[in-house]
Amino acid sequence: MSTLAVYPGSFDPITNGHVDIIARGARLFDRIIVAILVNAEKSPLFSMAERVEIAKAVFKDLPNVEVDTFEGLLVDYVERRDAQVIVRGLRAVSDFEFEFQMALMNRRLNDRIETVFMMPAEKYSYISSRLIKEVFTLGGRVHGLVPDMVEERLRQKVTKK
Ligand SMILES: Nc1ncnc2c1ncn2[C@@H]1O[C@H](COP(=O)(O)OP(=O)(O)OP(=O)(O)O)[C@@H](O)[C@H]1O
Ligand SMILES: [Mg+2]
Repeated sequence: MSTLAVYPGSFDPITNGHVDIIARGARLFDRIIVAILVNAEKSPLFSMAERVEIAKAVFKDLPNVEVDTFEGLLVDYVERRDAQVIVRGLRAVSDFEFEFQMALMNRRLNDRIETVFMMPAEKYSYISSRLIKEVFTLGGRVHGLVPDMVEERLRQKVTKK
């Protein structure tokens, strides 16, 4: 049996913390699907099409990473894709409470699916999409914290305003 994992999130935009978790997942599982949540936030900075395009470009050399989008209940999507695992990243204790609730709720909804938590490299352990957007918009440097393509797209967006 091959193990298929789903890594869900809003990825608005994808950061090197996400990339780190996905790369680890790609070594651990036969295949990992980066599942971008539709409508996670009312006004995302990056459109769905842009987020998909960026993620596909970032993982073009990792053949067992797939990029997809989903709406509705995560466990329904995971079941539909015939996957067995939900991957989530843990940055700090502050992530734990929410992630613990979600994992147990998802187990209650579908106990055939297992949630697996992974820790990123320390150097990425404080990054979130929200923080990247905030710092960049205020003129701070985010080089090395996001893929180069994301840095470029952020620059285009901020100068267009
Ligand atoms: N730097 C990181 N290291 C490890 N895991 C991370 C990191 N950033 C996010 N994650 C994990 O990735 C998954 C998707 O999270 P999400 O899409 O909310 O990203 P985010 O960076 O937290 O964005 P936002 O700031 O918009 O909440 C979650 O499991 C989250 O804990
Ligand atoms: Mg988050």
